[in-house]
Amino acid sequence: MRLDDLFAYDSVSLAPEGDGVVIVDQTLLPWEERFLTLKDEGDVYEAIARLRVRGAPAIGIAAAYGLYVAFRRVVLQPGFDESKASSEFFRISRYLSKARPTAVNLSAAIGRMERRFNACMSDGIGIKQMLAALRMEAESIKAEDMSMCLSIAEYGAGLIGRPGMGILTHCNAGHYAVSRYGTALAPIYLAHSRGLAPRVYADETRPLMQGARITVFELHKAGVDVTLECDSMAASLMASGQVDLVFTGCDRVACNGDTANKIGTSALAILARHYGIPFYILGPTSSIDPDAATGSEIPVEQRHPDEVTDLYFSRRIAPEGIKVYNPAFDVTPSGLISGIVTEKGIYRPPYDFTFLKPNETTV
Ligand code: MRU
Repeated sequence: MRLDDLFAYDSVSLAPEGDGVVIVDQTLLPWEERFLTLKDEGDVYEAIARLRVRGAPAIGIAAAYGLYVAFRRVVLQPGFDESKASSEFFRISRYLSKARPTAVNLSAAIGRMERRFNACMSDGIGIKQMLAALRMEAESIKAEDMSMCLSIAEYGAGLIGRPGMGILTHCNAGHYAVSRYGTALAPIYLAHSRGLAPRVYADETRPLMQGARITVFELHKAGVDVTLECDSMAASLMASGQVDLVFTGCDRVACNGDTANKIGTSALAILARHYGIPFYILGPTSSIDPDAATGSEIPVEQRHPDEVTDLYFSRRIAPEGIKVYNPAFDVTPSGLISGIVTEKGIYRPPYDFTFLKPNETTV
């Protein structure tokens, strides 16, 4: 079986005319695979903030395409005053960069588009050429994401040494969280395509259920053996001896290896240490923030209380007016991480990512 046979479409792409960002609305999964075309910066911001497009690399790609599409729409308006190109471009880029705070891929992708825009301005090229250059930059971000996921798949598959291994994962770091293949799920797909029959356990991932709604959906569709469990069952599952490895994605990795990922990840790392199970983070180097020395410098998004009390329940499950704690991410201390699997290889503790200077970081 070929790896590509497992994926029918890319989860984020540019409309052929360049006038829209095409995504699968992930809030509707698994009930419906509905494609949405985002036409301007308002659409893209809303889609990222509401998690219609989610997962750190997918957010970065959508933002890069979104910046191109929104800028194109503005500058192609009849009578557009070209002296306003710069102020319009940076108005849109600043706006999009605020859509969500934790995944560094968002600011990295926008930063890359801004550097390309500045280079075009210094070269003094016209608007048409500038649009072509920005489109090419956004397409490169996506192409690089695919190739990084393939490398992560190879390095990660090296950890899946024998048939039938049990792998526990959290949230969704698969096809929908990137453009294709995934990060934490990519080695699993590769092992599956090679006939190693990995057994996956997916945390449902309270409160937004990315595991139950998306991870289980995509793995099951691809024919991978997957079992759903509530987040609170992880200790019991590990104690039962059915888990050989834990694989999760990441939203932002600090220079010392502290890693922000979906809320609940650090609890898994603590449990994995207790039960002697290797705990791996898988992600591209575009998810490493060379400006964050440790995890304490990573901004953690707080989300609306309704996600905990109402969403996905047929009726509200908590009394009205109750206080709710709802951080979207937590930071796993680097000391609990057995390895960080990137497209460049597997890093082991002690971690030091200071060599990834901002202009060397790929998106
Ligand atoms: O809030 P989400 O669903 O965007 O959170 C996503 C995660 O935590 C993923 O594990 C992470 O972005 C890695 S995706 C390859």
